[in-house]
Amino acid sequence: MKSIPGERGWPVFGHSLNFLKDCNTLINSMHERFGPVYYNYYLHTKVVVLLSPDANEFVLLDRDKNFSSRKAWNISLAELFPNGLMLRDGDEHRYHRRLLGAPFKAKALEEYVSLMNSDIASTIKGWQKNESVELYPLMKQLTLDLAAKVFLGENLVKEADAVNQAFVDVVDASMALVRHPVLGLKYRKGLKGRALLEDYFRQRIEGKRTSQETDMFAEISRVEDELGERFSKQDVIDHIIFLMMAAHDTTTSSLSSIAFALAKHPEWQDVIAKESALIEGDSLEYSQMPGFTAAEWVFKEALRMYPPLPIIPRTAIQDCEFQGYQIKRNDMVHVSPSFTHRLDTIWTNPEQFDPMRFSPERAEDRNHKHAFIPFGGGAHKCLGIKFAELQVKLVMFHLLRHYRLETPKGYEMPYAPAPIGKPKDLLPITLRPVTNS
Ligand code: HEM
Repeated sequence: MKSIPGERGWPVFGHSLNFLKDCNTLINSMHERFGPVYYNYYLHTKVVVLLSPDANEFVLLDRDKNFSSRKAWNISLAELFPNGLMLRDGDEHRYHRRLLGAPFKAKALEEYVSLMNSDIASTIKGWQKNESVELYPLMKQLTLDLAAKVFLGENLVKEADAVNQAFVDVVDASMALVRHPVLGLKYRKGLKGRALLEDYFRQRIEGKRTSQETDMFAEISRVEDELGERFSKQDVIDHIIFLMMAAHDTTTSSLSSIAFALAKHPEWQDVIAKESALIEGDSLEYSQMPGFTAAEWVFKEALRMYPPLPIIPRTAIQDCEFQGYQIKRNDMVHVSPSFTHRLDTIWTNPEQFDPMRFSPERAEDRNHKHAFIPFGGGAHKCLGIKFAELQVKLVMFHLLRHYRLETPKGYEMPYAPAPIGKPKDLLPITLRPVTNS
């Protein structure tokens, strides 16, 4: 068995500060020095990093049940998002995932699309025009408001402000460096936010169970297995809070990367605007989504270049072997979407924005089943892929019906990839109204 090369890094911190500063640069330089299998340390935790499509498959498909998602994610999320779907393993995970499928079926998705159309249109129309605005916070507010409506339902939207704030505090806390409830710090605010959300949802579950409402919270409250068993109230709370988190910053991140890419490549704005002009009326309905193909390629290309999750973590629960290297029980293991998304053995000119690589003729993502993994893979593959795609297409549709996006000449987005990708300067963009809007 070969021993894994690598290094411990700085005393106490290991490589954690470099990771937070720019994990992609860290990974590239470690790869250059040690190759596609290496170890480093984040604080006191040894992390084995595996950088290839085969490694993605080994870890994410996990045919031999070597890895735990729960153990890995618990390190950062256990207190704020306990027992969310990603924080469960094995049979328990399978059972919960099956029941959680209900709010993601076609009929439910169709309903969400019609709920979101008018809100997206009116919000976007209200954005400041003809001068530079920070687009990231606008997208973040938009996805938060949409989540309130789709996840919690029309009736709860009116009370959503306090809930939204609590939710923002919980998500912010999950990114905090200091993870102790110290007065005034993010983490403490997050724990308070979590307590408020628990209370809020607990008081409303019975009402949702007896309602006919079709929001995600109602669906999850009512769902039954084949023996007529429902989720416990605590399960409903844990799932809905986790789902809101899983949907929020990831979608915001993709939308802002898309906006940046489109502003840099106006020819793709024209392609999407042309596609959306073929759609009659002022909204994009569920049945019309498959025709919105260029928007889909642009979405995928933005996810390739800027995957919202730059790494996916697991913990080894038994000793195992990958290509002759021994991984020990309790080792943390990372695979990296951002690294495999830029491999020139898979992608033509990987540094170039080129949505056509996802066209059926080229289909570069099919070069390896696990080269393109913005949504992960295997048992924990993102449950919200379709929802995310629909929401992103809706935003692109309405955005490009009303505006052309501009950035200053030569602008490059300063990008912070971890923990969830984000433009460091919040993405200054100018929205120029198109003449007929
Ligand atoms: C572009 C947007 C999104 C991206 C890039 C994304 C990415 C991911 C990734 C990489 C994972 C796997 C993590 C792992 O294996 O450890 C994941 C899991 C998950 N995502 Fe997403 N996600 C997005 C949007 C959403 C949305 C909109 C929802 C819900 C409405 C959602 C719900 C979930 C859930 C429930 C899981 C856990 C699945 C499981 O453990 O079985 N995601 N997501």
